[in-house]
Amino acid sequence: MFTHKVARIASAFFLTLCVSQVLAAGPAKTPRLGKPISAEQAAKWNLNVFPDGTGLPAGSGSAVEGRVVYDQQCASCHGEGGRGGAAEELAGGSHALTGETPDKSIGIYWPYATTIFDFTRRAMPMDAPGSLSADQVYAVTAYLLFANEIIGEKDEMNAQTLPRVKMSNRDGFVWIDAKPASGK
Ligand code: HEC
Repeated sequence: MFTHKVARIASAFFLTLCVSQVLAAGPAKTPRLGKPISAEQAAKWNLNVFPDGTGLPAGSGSAVEGRVVYDQQCASCHGEGGRGGAAEELAGGSHALTGETPDKSIGIYWPYATTIFDFTRRAMPMDAPGSLSADQVYAVTAYLLFANEIIGEKDEMNAQTLPRVKMSNRDGFVWIDAKPASGK
């Protein structure tokens, strides 16, 4: 009982102290949290790659080099050749989108090849995201496209060629205009 009371008095005191410190600091336009970051630091988080290729970095790679990256850094979770691992299958898929249990795999479902680059660069390998160079990400992206029989083994992927890869489900999505109708 006594200790509770002491704790309450102590916390009330602490709160008063904090408030008076804020007041002493004068009116702040911002909540005064964190600190400004440099453009260089912000660039590390600015990773979006769009279907038209906007956001893709310099660099290149083909499935030949990508196979090496894949075997060393991806196969332990995703299985040999993108199949049969504990994590998501990255190649193949036998159930078409029109069936009752469609496979939402890269080859069958993903509409844009650039998404493979974006996802891999920001999130994979799952135990060390951000550790691959741009060349390695292009190469392993090429390898996954090759494993899905979309490009050839020696086709080089870079900022120009990757957005031009036509995925089989590219036109399978219905786009909606997210802007509210005027006046609503
Ligand atoms: C430690 C295990 C692990 C490693 C290593 C790993 N991944 Fe993954 N990966 C996962 C898991 C788990 C998921 C599912 C994550 C989710 O659904 O949010 C995933 C999802 C993905 C997806 C999305 C698949 C889909 O259909 O949604 C891609 C693409 C991918 N990984 C690529 C790679 C590549 C390329 C590498 C190697 C550079 C790699 N991963 C290494 C565990 C791993």
